[in-house]
Amino acid sequence: MNFKQLFTESYERAVLGNQEPFFAEFYAIFISKSLDLKHMFAQTNMRKQRQSLATSLTLLVWFAEEHKSDAQLEQLAKQHAGFGLTAELYDVWMDALIEALKKTDTQHTKEESLAWRIILSPGITFMKQFNL
Ligand code: HEM
Repeated sequence: MNFKQLFTESYERAVLGNQEPFFAEFYAIFISKSLDLKHMFAQTNMRKQRQSLATSLTLLVWFAEEHKSDAQLEQLAKQHAGFGLTAELYDVWMDALIEALKKTDTQHTKEESLAWRIILSPGITFMKQFNL
């Protein structure tokens, strides 16, 4: 199975051209998972936040390809370390992303869920290290 290809096909179908509704769904799901999360985003401009996340997903994809961190990803990781996140919250983040894909893309498959996890995991692992 070609997970890069599965990821790209899913990304193009579910996210590209559908960014606002997709990331709105993601944050609705993610934030509903705990009160802590609700508090963390209480003062956040969610419109700006959705756009930032759309951009930063590409940082994770690039990291998975190159296995090199760049200044932008390091800055994002350091910023997140300041939020006092747990490893579990990163799992909640990933699960919420998959849930949003299932909810917004009727053609989404199990294999594509796995592809998202496989492609994004290296960058998430990198980000987590700053918190632990
Ligand atoms: C454990 C899971 C995560 C939690 C709880 C979390 C929480 C937060 C919070 C509280 C903010 C600040 C919002 C504000 O400015 O008011 C933020 C910003 C941001 N997060 Fe996360 N985050 C998580 C994971 C991630 C991941 C994995 C990514 C990368 C793809 C990411 C990308 C971003 C971006 C791009 C911003 C905006 C940075 C900026 O514009 O300054 N987050 N996050």
